[in-house]
Amino acid sequence: MKMPNLNEARIRNKSEVRYYDADIIKNPSLFQNKKYYLKTYGCQMNVHDSELIRALLENVGFTETDKMNNADLIILNTCAIRENAHDKVFGFLGRCKHIKKTINPNLVIALCGCMAQEPTVCEEIQSKYKYIDLVFGTHNIHELPRLLLNKMNKTDFEVESIEGDVVEGLEYKRDSKVQAWVNIMYGCDKFCTYCIVPYTRGKQRSRTSEKILEECKKLKEDGYKEVTLLGQNVNAYGKDLSQEISFAELLKRVAELGIERVRFVTSHPWDFTDEMIDVIAKYDNIMPYIHLPLQSGSSRILKLMGRRYTKEEYLDLYDKIKAKVKNAAITTDIIVGFPGETEEDFKETLEVVERCKFDGAFTFIFSKRVGTPAEKLPDDTSLEEKEERLHRLNELVNKYSLEHNQEYVGKTVKVLLTDVSEKDANQLAGYTETMKLVNVKADKSCMNTICDVKITEAKSFSLNGEVD
Ligand code: SAH
Ligand code: SF4
Ligand code: F3S
Repeated sequence: MKMPNLNEARIRNKSEVRYYDADIIKNPSLFQNKKYYLKTYGCQMNVHDSELIRALLENVGFTETDKMNNADLIILNTCAIRENAHDKVFGFLGRCKHIKKTINPNLVIALCGCMAQEPTVCEEIQSKYKYIDLVFGTHNIHELPRLLLNKMNKTDFEVESIEGDVVEGLEYKRDSKVQAWVNIMYGCDKFCTYCIVPYTRGKQRSRTSEKILEECKKLKEDGYKEVTLLGQNVNAYGKDLSQEISFAELLKRVAELGIERVRFVTSHPWDFTDEMIDVIAKYDNIMPYIHLPLQSGSSRILKLMGRRYTKEEYLDLYDKIKAKVKNAAITTDIIVGFPGETEEDFKETLEVVERCKFDGAFTFIFSKRVGTPAEKLPDDTSLEEKEERLHRLNELVNKYSLEHNQEYVGKTVKVLLTDVSEKDANQLAGYTETMKLVNVKADKSCMNTICDVKITEAKSFSLNGEVD
């Protein structure tokens, strides 16, 4: 049994990163006829981790079910970025408890992901939620089959607060046949003062470019049309390895493999080099879409957040990208109500939004995370005031997002159709090169292909169109 520890999670550069191949158990008779139900919260990192969990479980005989009542194993892959995730997850666990009590007393309930890395969560489970059988952390995912085999009668905790290894030789059961996530780095060393990720995901450690390129090449051979390079901070790629190439060079080499669409997420304004902008501008198969989190438009607040750039530096970078990358769409993340944010600070955020006219923004009210420096900062703004700021911000963000979408009406654009539309089961849905969601009148045979789509209507958060 191993429990997480925030003081250990805070440590950096104590030990060398270990690179090793996972020892994956492949024996379908181990859990033959057993079913699992998997629920995923959080960012793309978690979505991709869930693709690993699926492969690990199916290697040892499990099949997936979408009905909780039929499951022998329920796994919740959780997110810790904001406090409200806690209530959602524990609400869901209550439903699992009910199933265990009334339908299947042998049900195994497991919790993993970033919440598992929070000592307060593990302590709470240990003392109050004894019906949870297994808790495993973000560093321990590949050990899942062994953990299930070893499971004792009491809750088993396997949550390491290590700086982190790089485990290779993993297989994923990817959700899509054409769109794939590829981890290029794990963890984060930025320690923005509000953020829990450096504690839940460990230190920044890059995979070798050789392994990344090998994985991308294989994906192309398998018919994948879109690859998204994944990391909390992709442009810091390679900085932890003396002999590695830069992110710009990696991006270039991936693009040169000839995959039709190459994307990356997320980029921090701090490490965004001119070389990167040039590479994005030069290669047609690197998509002209950049998620560039602003967080706040006030340099004073940015400093308190530990973001390492000022409002002016952000705007300069923004202008440079817009000038060099044709038709680039830029989206952002913004936090309102950071401790000490005044009405003046907030107005600066609104001004930056007005100036940049983002294609879209994810907006959040600051949420206090245990163990982060911002937890201790004095905060005298009421929740009501923060909600009001969020509302004003969203009005502005939505206005520009609609304006951008309206520019598409009448144009024909390329869309990778990957889903049945949520709005109309007779339609397909997919994303433009600039990451706009489009609901498309198209024949089912267009599924998983890149189609020319004529845009007929614009809404704030999506477009409608038909195959041209
Ligand atoms: N690595 C990414 C961020 C991942 S978290 C980056 O640096 O851009 C996604 C977003 O959640 C962040 O950009 C931030 O806007 C928001 N977020 C993170 N911690 C938060 C907190 N404590 N309260 C509110 N929002 C938060
Ligand atoms: Fe969190 Fe900052 Fe790292 Fe992003 S860069 S994951 S916001 S600490
Ligand atoms: Fe959430 Fe962990 Fe991602 S906290 S946002 S799932 S890295």
